[in-house]
Amino acid sequence: MKLKRLFSGVQIGNLELKNRIVMLSMQLGYAEGGFATPPFIRFYEERAKGGAGLLIVGGAHIHPHGTGGVNFLAVDDDRYIPDLRKLTEAIRTAGAKSCLQLLHSGRYAFSILTGEQPVSASEVASPLSGEVPRALSVEEIKDMVGLFTDGARRAREAGFDAVEICGSTGYLVSQFLSPFTNRRTDAYGGSLEGRTRFAVEIVRSIKQALGEDYPVVFRLSFDDYVEGGTGLDETRSIAGTLEEAGVDLLDMQVGWHEAKVPTSAMLVPRAAFAYLAAEIRKEVAVPVVVTNRINDPLLAEELLQDGVADLIGMARALIADPELPNKARTGRLDEIAPCIACNQGCMDGVFMGRPVSCLVNPAAGREARFEIHPAKKPGKVMVIGAGPAGMEAARVLALRGHEVILVEREEELGGQLTLCGTARDRAEFKSLLRYLIHEVRRLDIRILTGTEAGEESVLAHRPDVVIIATGARQDLPELPGTGKPHVYTAASVLRGEADLRGRVAIIGGGHIGCEVALYAAQRGAMPPDVARFLVLHGALDPEQALAYMRRTRPVTIIEQRKKIAAYYGRTSRFGILQGLRSRGVTLMTGTKCVEICDGGVVLEKANGRETLEADTVVITSGYVEEGALYKRLEGKVAELHIIGDAKKLKSCQQAVWDAAELARNI
Ligand SMILES: Cc1cc2nc3c(=O)[nH]c(=O)nc-3n(C[C@H](O)[C@H](O)[C@H](O)COP(=O)(O)OP(=O)(O)OC[C@H]3O[C@@H](n4cnc5c(N)ncnc54)[C@H](O)[C@@H]3O)c2cc1C
Ligand SMILES: Cc1cc2nc3c(=O)[nH]c(=O)nc-3n(C[C@H](O)[C@H](O)[C@H](O)COP(=O)(O)O)c2cc1C
Repeated sequence: MKLKRLFSGVQIGNLELKNRIVMLSMQLGYAEGGFATPPFIRFYEERAKGGAGLLIVGGAHIHPHGTGGVNFLAVDDDRYIPDLRKLTEAIRTAGAKSCLQLLHSGRYAFSILTGEQPVSASEVASPLSGEVPRALSVEEIKDMVGLFTDGARRAREAGFDAVEICGSTGYLVSQFLSPFTNRRTDAYGGSLEGRTRFAVEIVRSIKQALGEDYPVVFRLSFDDYVEGGTGLDETRSIAGTLEEAGVDLLDMQVGWHEAKVPTSAMLVPRAAFAYLAAEIRKEVAVPVVVTNRINDPLLAEELLQDGVADLIGMARALIADPELPNKARTGRLDEIAPCIACNQGCMDGVFMGRPVSCLVNPAAGREARFEIHPAKKPGKVMVIGAGPAGMEAARVLALRGHEVILVEREEELGGQLTLCGTARDRAEFKSLLRYLIHEVRRLDIRILTGTEAGEESVLAHRPDVVIIATGARQDLPELPGTGKPHVYTAASVLRGEADLRGRVAIIGGGHIGCEVALYAAQRGAMPPDVARFLVLHGALDPEQALAYMRRTRPVTIIEQRKKIAAYYGRTSRFGILQGLRSRGVTLMTGTKCVEICDGGVVLEKANGRETLEADTVVITSGYVEEGALYKRLEGKVAELHIIGDAKKLKSCQQAVWDAAELARNI
């Protein structure tokens, strides 16, 4: 498919964009003291060089009590302008346009950070902090309009080509729009017109202050997915009102932070909310941006061709690969490092007060330090193990000009990454596997699969450097009954080698246990494409199809600790738990399996022992570092390193990062 629409120019008010890829706003946590620091500027410069048409920077808070987190960008004072100017210059020089998102968190602010009680439309507690905000007085609302306008003025002075008002995701402006958080009875509440007044006044005030031709973008949620909040019907009307008020572009988002519908996690299908953008586009003449889980340029092109929206918003996809637009434009689609929506480094990082990072792209946020330079002394480097750590190391070493030999015991590349993503809800992991395999095959790397590396075979190659990336193995725990024929390891189940029969008991409720449970439940249910076919052809009605999709085998997770899925970050965990529960998976916490018997497992709980009947038992615990080869090679090769799970059992993210760091320094 030619990406003609995606790479065609588009007009936003009087602003011309060279293509239709918009980098969406993101709080990065790099803005120490609120300033656009050198790493912050470099982050955006890379994305501008990577080819996106418009970069929306921020949200930048327009008042200190409106900040959303640690080291978030600020535009509440003129002292921020000089650094912001450096940022816009860097973006402009790289050939892109810039826009600053103006944000006030309202009830999503934390008094522990701001030192003040949060403010909002009404006194409705924030589920993020548990704090009850103070309702703004009419006078304060007028002041707030002034603060947004001051922020816009500073943005223009700093050289931004446009500003965006954050009226989505549950932040202050959306708190006024929603009947759930706006219980006011004055001119700023009540009717939809009243609830929209604050937003309209901000838009008008900015237009008045900066001129009609200065582009104003408005970020709006299609649907809050909050009970009693704003849904599509009201949003249609709000969109029309904002257009009348002078908005030049509608940047459509979905869901508040407190929404019960997952909107950004891996289980969200790509472009799942695009149908809503099409609804809004019918209502307005101004261009519309469609967002959420669009990480594939081909899909982006399709959405544009189908008239769903005028522009494509991408946030995390451009963290994962700043070069995505250029690679897409030049037909190098397979070389795009894909965002897998794991949220481990980005959203979950920010929620934990950490700067944004990325599992897929270890350079994100540390672009200067992670530049790839040719090796000073190219040598022969052997990488043992082709999991994510080994493949990433091999990739970077090859780019730096080393002679690389990648050795893998199995016939296929990928290590544990071949198991991640077996459950449908985690399937996006497969795109990372595809990318890494494509890269190690594309680059000048000698790959030896089906080859177990041992001390002798390694030394026979006379390598200058050896990197041990042998990962982890699963040792079955000392538990009576593990040798029984109906007992399987996680890997054998996920590889499809186990005879998954009847009732399944899964021992261990960590991420591997959850993935096995999702997979086991999915194996017993009607696949979505079959359900779709049967409904479309009249064989089943939608209700019946849904019931078949939910009709699964009985699956129980047994976890001795208090929490299931504790490994996942905040934005993924609730979706994982909802996925397990909606498939009827029983979650047992504080429960220890003490024996596997024929036909069941013996469980120890706080109140005594019981037997759970089970036909299949899966053990998901017992992973240990596979570091024996490292020990055998110590002192026998000139340079020896160990990375990833082999060094310390942790995560795919740590494995890739270890590799990325080491391979840049050899
Ligand atoms: C079901 C599942 C879900 C997961 N979900 C997540 C998640 O959501 N997020 C996350 O961050 N992590 C997740 N992980 C963990 C992640 O997959 C691992 O942390 C990561 O794969 C470790 O990478 P690695 O390259 O260090 O080791 P591995 O992936 O274990 O790869 C090591 C490779 O070395 C090979 N090898 C070993 N010894 C030799 C030898 N002597 N010679 C040649 N080859 C050898 C092995 O065959 C293997 O291919 C998950 C893991 C599983 C199993
Ligand atoms: C780390 C991070 C910070 C974000 N901060 C903001 C923000 O300040 N304002 C905003 O409107 N959206 C913010 N978002 C949401 C994104 O703009 C985007 O809507 C969301 O990530 C879905 O798009 P994607 O699937 O392309 O990533 C943030 C997202 C991430 C990952």
